[in-house]
Amino acid sequence: MAQTSPSAPSVAVLCGLGGWVPPRIVDNAELSARLDTTDAWITERTGIRHRRHIEPGQATSDLAVEAGRRAVRSAGGAPPDAVLVATTTPDRPCPATAPVVAARLGLAGVPAFDVAAVCTGFLYALATASGLLATGAARRVLVIGADAYSTIVDPGDRTNAVIFGDGAGAVVLRSGSPEELGALGPFDLGSDGAGEDLITVRAGGSRQRSAGDDGPPAGPERFFEMHGRAVYRHAVVRMSGSARAVLDAADWKSDTVAHVVPHQANLRILRSVVEHLGLPEERLVTNIRDLGNTGAASVPLALCDAAADGRLTPGDGVLLTAFGGGLTWGSCVLRWPALPPTVRPATPADPPTPRPGTPGTPTPKEQHP
Ligand code: UT7
Repeated sequence: MAQTSPSAPSVAVLCGLGGWVPPRIVDNAELSARLDTTDAWITERTGIRHRRHIEPGQATSDLAVEAGRRAVRSAGGAPPDAVLVATTTPDRPCPATAPVVAARLGLAGVPAFDVAAVCTGFLYALATASGLLATGAARRVLVIGADAYSTIVDPGDRTNAVIFGDGAGAVVLRSGSPEELGALGPFDLGSDGAGEDLITVRAGGSRQRSAGDDGPPAGPERFFEMHGRAVYRHAVVRMSGSARAVLDAADWKSDTVAHVVPHQANLRILRSVVEHLGLPEERLVTNIRDLGNTGAASVPLALCDAAADGRLTPGDGVLLTAFGGGLTWGSCVLRWPALPPTVRPATPADPPTPRPGTPGTPTPKEQHP
């Protein structure tokens, strides 16, 4: 861990971007064949046509390692000195997933921890990383949003099964000055725990225990639950309110915002957010049609796709905003930096990173990105 220094530069500057989604495509036809739903309902109500699922035996860290490796490569390959993973689907309840990811990237020894803010997790992790950089506790932070919702959604739940997909996106942040392209901020973050039941997995924590009188969770309470209609309303109000707050704090006018990159909750929600902000729909960045809602991964994955499309040019004003369980919400702005060409997340990894224990697996140092 870097030692703190009073002269440390004070802001986080985005200098690397990468994403990865698993190859298995689950289209609306596949879901309609086994659930009481239709391609027309899914497309009209959510804007989603495909989503990706991990294979049995894979886990969130497998997604996070690929995305992290690509982001570090995009940032020039220098090793980060801290790793944050925003996720709702950690590999295990304990320990956190970030140390595992750091070790597999050859970064064992650096501070590494998870950030739990559901679909707002990536925004919370960006703000947390900015704090590490501002204090000088770190100089280069790998921030990953990674989720594998297919592992917690009830396969028979027609509403959530159509919405959620698996994936990971990542950025590298370095210390820098507020005038630089890529400098993050200001931030707006918030929460309202009165809405805890609107998005939840009831079992597996200390309230519905794995040990004790209740025994291990076996019923439907072990699956992800969402009260879609209420969440929909909160998502529009909170994302547009939070976005407005950072625009005011940054003194950005509507014309300064070239791209709105929101959490990919539902296409109707995203359209409503840009409408509330008085921005034209052309400025909305969305890849929900192809990836669905990938939780904490959705903002960096949308950035990756927009960058791969050549949509993000250096100097463009970019607004990030997210909403999720908790309830939580958050936003920030940045001027897009010059980055090397971004590899599209759906491009196969090259070569795949072997998991520890696989015959022929190199030592962590040899795997260094
Ligand atoms: O990432 C965290 C944040 N998440 C979000 O922001 C998601 C927010 N919510 C949503 O995106 C939407 O509320 C949903 C996509 C979840 C649902 O869309 P909706 O337009 O709000 O539908 P609804 O819940 O009002 O349900 C309308 C009807 C219901 O039937 P009845 O009661 O009218 O007979 C549902 O049972 O649609 C039915 N329904 C479905 N029908 C076909 C629900 N899911 C499906 C389905 N296929 N997959």
